[in-house]
Amino acid sequence: MAEAEAAADTAHVLVFPVPAQGHLNSFLHFSTGLLRAGLHVTFLHTDHNLRRLGAAAAASPRLRFLSVPDGLPDDVPRTVDSIPRLVLSLTTTGAAAYRDLLASLRRGAAGGATAADGFPPVTCVVADGIMQFAWDIAEELGVPAIAFRTASAGSFLAFLSVPKLIELGELPFPDGGGDLDEPVHGVPGMESFLRRRDLPSQCRSLTETHQDPLLKAVVAATVHCRKARALILNTTASLEGPSLAHLVKEMRDVFAVGPLHAMSPAPAVATSLWRHDDRCMAWLDGKADKSVVYISLGSLTVISHEQFTEFLRGLIAAAYPVLWVLRPDMLGASQDAALQEALAAVGEDKALVVPWAPQRDVLRHRAVGCFLTHSGWNSTLEAVVEGVPMVCWPFFADQQINSRFVGAVWRNGLDMKDVCERGVVEKTVREAMESDEVRSSARAQAEQVERDIADGGSSAMEFKRLVGFIRELSS
Ligand code: UDX
Repeated sequence: MAEAEAAADTAHVLVFPVPAQGHLNSFLHFSTGLLRAGLHVTFLHTDHNLRRLGAAAAASPRLRFLSVPDGLPDDVPRTVDSIPRLVLSLTTTGAAAYRDLLASLRRGAAGGATAADGFPPVTCVVADGIMQFAWDIAEELGVPAIAFRTASAGSFLAFLSVPKLIELGELPFPDGGGDLDEPVHGVPGMESFLRRRDLPSQCRSLTETHQDPLLKAVVAATVHCRKARALILNTTASLEGPSLAHLVKEMRDVFAVGPLHAMSPAPAVATSLWRHDDRCMAWLDGKADKSVVYISLGSLTVISHEQFTEFLRGLIAAAYPVLWVLRPDMLGASQDAALQEALAAVGEDKALVVPWAPQRDVLRHRAVGCFLTHSGWNSTLEAVVEGVPMVCWPFFADQQINSRFVGAVWRNGLDMKDVCERGVVEKTVREAMESDEVRSSARAQAEQVERDIADGGSSAMEFKRLVGFIRELSS
């Protein structure tokens, strides 16, 4: 993707992510790659997010933003609790609006004429791999559709394996899940390290009569990806070769094109739903090399006041300077009190607490020694690329399996899964900061990934192959 911008061509991709920060980021980096290859991109937001992005959403010449309603009233917070509602309203209200829009933009509409804004008709859809309606509708309208799943190949394989785990009697957990350290045998290639606690979190509540609606929806969408023209994953062969090798046998085609954020260092436009706090970098500048613990639990995690207190006490005991992201919607009503408590307890010179940080720049900063993360896939990849050791406290869904890979396979961090206790926080953070072994694994992995995305590397080649594939579908 490092090549100079190619001449614009008539391949025009409509991309449609799930309207959540992690998905938006991956799709933005993906779109930047398409633009650099010369394609046109229509980025489909929801009305709510496009309003929230405001001026930040100004488009570049071959990129435009359009939107459809997500079906929820504007004052409903788009937090983790509203995800099932959001997914449902997207598949009804959102899907209907998307169908109308795509019908007017597709190849053949208005005799295939170019629109007044210079955009050719849409020739291909790349839709989020958990919104199967988006690629079904596209194909019904005669537009070839590809699924892009923004999470890891490993988590995709785990969701794909859920029906088999049920068939094998591994799910629901036979003894009610009593021992979460029991091994899981039914996810191919992961037999030697996967435990019940590493499966997507919603598997824990599965019973003979109850299935979490989100698990049901994600498993159905994952299985349905077999029908898409291809599956795109934001990963690389060096990180997830064995999982990819299994998926290649299951899907029509698989493109491992990540880490996308590292392949397009200058994104076409910003898609951050929160404003970065400008104080972070100057504060880090004043700290010694590898001395700071950076904590961020992503865009959806919510924590209780008790969990907050355990983190706080553990970090105070570990005694490193801390840069802490506490999103305004993360702790509910006790947020302000928590903030004051943190600053008073740690001391303002030793802690900076912000609502949102420029995470990629933070992780790249020489002062950051480790990253206490919820193991969202974007955050994981961002830490991998910078070679920063992780302390993982996965919150939900795919994060449980991502943290297992970090702790047991890549060994570039430590997995605190299911424990939020001050003594463990202290010990684990200390180990991540001090362990030469963890730091050198993180460094070696970053170097390998750098090779993957460089010219001739596996991800760079895959991206080229994908652009060719899209052009072929568009012709
Ligand atoms: C969750 C998942 O865990 C993820 O794996 C899934 O694919 C989507 O839903 P999220 O909580 O958003 O995502 O986490 P993550 O995937 O890590 O994405 C968060 C993004 O926000 C990252 O790109 C990160 O750099 C950015 N971020 C986070 C900031 O820019 N500033 C912050 O302060 C915190």
